[in-house]
Amino acid sequence: MARPKIALIGAGQIGGTLAHLVALKELGDVVLFDIAEGTPEGKALDIAESGPSEGFDATLKGTQSYEDIAGADVCIVTAGVPRKPGMSRDDLLGINLKVMKSVGEGIRDHAPNAFVICITNPLDAMVWALQQFSGLPANKVCGMAGVLDSARFSHFLSVEFGVSMKDVTAFVLGGHGDTMVPSVRYSTVGGIPLPDLVAMGWTTQDKLDAIVQRTRDGGAEIVGLLKTGSAFYAPATSAIEMAEAYLKDQKRVLPCAAYCDGEIGVKDMYVGVPTVIGAGGIEKVIDIKLTKEEQVMFDKSVDAVKGLVAACKEIDPSLA
Ligand code: APR
Repeated sequence: MARPKIALIGAGQIGGTLAHLVALKELGDVVLFDIAEGTPEGKALDIAESGPSEGFDATLKGTQSYEDIAGADVCIVTAGVPRKPGMSRDDLLGINLKVMKSVGEGIRDHAPNAFVICITNPLDAMVWALQQFSGLPANKVCGMAGVLDSARFSHFLSVEFGVSMKDVTAFVLGGHGDTMVPSVRYSTVGGIPLPDLVAMGWTTQDKLDAIVQRTRDGGAEIVGLLKTGSAFYAPATSAIEMAEAYLKDQKRVLPCAAYCDGEIGVKDMYVGVPTVIGAGGIEKVIDIKLTKEEQVMFDKSVDAVKGLVAACKEIDPSLA
């Protein structure tokens, strides 16, 4: 059986890391697409030349032509610009919306059967626009944010509790922005919910509140340290987890920006929610019941995403 074909649209920091991970994990053959001449070709060749040492079987090709993504099984989109210190993800809207138009049309024309994972920010609005521009079914287009935000939350929790990251399950809902909702009630250490751990005296509410806030600011913390761009290792790993769930029909329960049709009170829009990812793409949006307080935070986050979608429609009336 032929290896799966994985198209990476955008060959920058995240795109290059994605290509490396796909090859190392032997998930399939890679096509790296970018408008910057030489960048995708150079990265593809560099990673291919690491093959003899790593011993992986994968072909890698760099290109500026959408024809080369023909028939891709998975497309992961990072095309666009990342933020710089002092910028919010929302500041990227105008530039990256235009990029989503060209990428969406490229996927529509050449890889209409792909499972599409968008990473470009501001995530929830960009994945919505990408679905609109590509016309692909909503269950085949999703955005990577929840896995990353949850991974950040898990990491901070494992450090606080001094336990393996493998034993921490953390859950973040809502838009991928300052209003995201790290769910304390649904996050556990060894199956024990965080509120119980506070009650047991293993940590304090203040420390937990600080971790929740650090999770919300997780992207900005990295931008502030790097100064020249945004995070790329963990975003790439998170998207690979989603791609693998699709390619291997793993039925993973992963939070991601998915199209909601009434679940958790959200109608006809993309926002971060728990999902099941398998061979059918987003096979299910899990309609969890939130407490009143959680629902207020979640609704605020949903409103922030609605504002961005409205701004997209103003910039590009074809979306209205
Ligand atoms: N089509 C294809 N590629 C494009 C286009 C386009 N229309 N416009 C820009 N690009 C390419 C750039 O040439 C660059 O190589 O997208 C790549 C983006 O790479 P980086 O600038 O290194 O950004 P990266 O860190 O990979 O982040 C990409 O993901 O997390 C988000 O906020 C982040 O929106 C940003 C995206």
